[in-house]
Amino acid sequence: MPKLKKCLFPAAGYGTRFLPATKAIPKEMLPVLTKPLLQYGVEEALSAGCEVMAIVTGRGKRAIEDHFDISYELEHQIKGTSKEHYLTEIRSIINSCTFTYTRQKEMKGLGHAILTGESLIGKEESFAVVLADDLCDNDEGKTVLYQMAEVHKRHPECCVVAIEEVPKDETDKYGVIAGEEIEEGLIKVSDMVEKPEPENAPSCYAIIGRYILLPEIFDILENTKPGKGGEIQITDALLELAKEGKVLAYKFQGRRFDCGSVEGFVKATNYFYERER
Ligand code: UTP
Repeated sequence: MPKLKKCLFPAAGYGTRFLPATKAIPKEMLPVLTKPLLQYGVEEALSAGCEVMAIVTGRGKRAIEDHFDISYELEHQIKGTSKEHYLTEIRSIINSCTFTYTRQKEMKGLGHAILTGESLIGKEESFAVVLADDLCDNDEGKTVLYQMAEVHKRHPECCVVAIEEVPKDETDKYGVIAGEEIEEGLIKVSDMVEKPEPENAPSCYAIIGRYILLPEIFDILENTKPGKGGEIQITDALLELAKEGKVLAYKFQGRRFDCGSVEGFVKATNYFYERER
């Protein structure tokens, strides 16, 4: 069974909830403590065995590319000083994987961003998708994507989406699933709805920003019409595979912070600060 090699990071959204901070820098580059959100995501992908980080950018591309590249000037300044350790982690990341980039020219939604990534991912194998503004943590060392990769290893014929139970009045912020629990914490998905009003939500299980997708999703996305909000929704494309019994929803172990919202971002900052103190 081939292992999960590539991880796609859609990072082209406008990040309007974080304006004006996101006017010139991508939301994914906002730091929680000293690390940008995207670096946490890349570390998680590495933990799941991924070697290629494929990033879909829109604007502010340079900051992302520069972050995951060697800065010779900085290296020269810092070498041999007491500050050198600040670069240890990022150096090790740069040496452990390859970064590839493409640009989403028009922001037509997450599904469209994933489709844009096809040129980086190819159609040969399953791949991971990480939305870096959903910051995930697990104290026991098994990251959420690692846990999902384990599920996918056991069920290679299925996509895997991470789910979390959310309050009923928040279903309209997420893709929401329904299905049958086939083993503890694992649901075979039969229905999915993008951002349903609470009264129309099929459950309170919301999809968060972690996916493992079969490459056939690209063909489906190509034919997926714009849905909710006029955007091409990954939920709509996944529903087609769900109808064939090819989508599993996994209740992950750990915590998730919605760092796309100011409140979630502050919570994450406090949590990581307390933990690292
Ligand atoms: P969001 O729904 O959080 O949208 O996108 P956003 O534009 O980033 O933020 P707000 O709502 O305006 O504050 C979820 C993820 O999908 C990516 C975003 O970068 C984010 O990681 N995305 C969304 C794209 O890459 N392209 C798109 O067209 C839309």
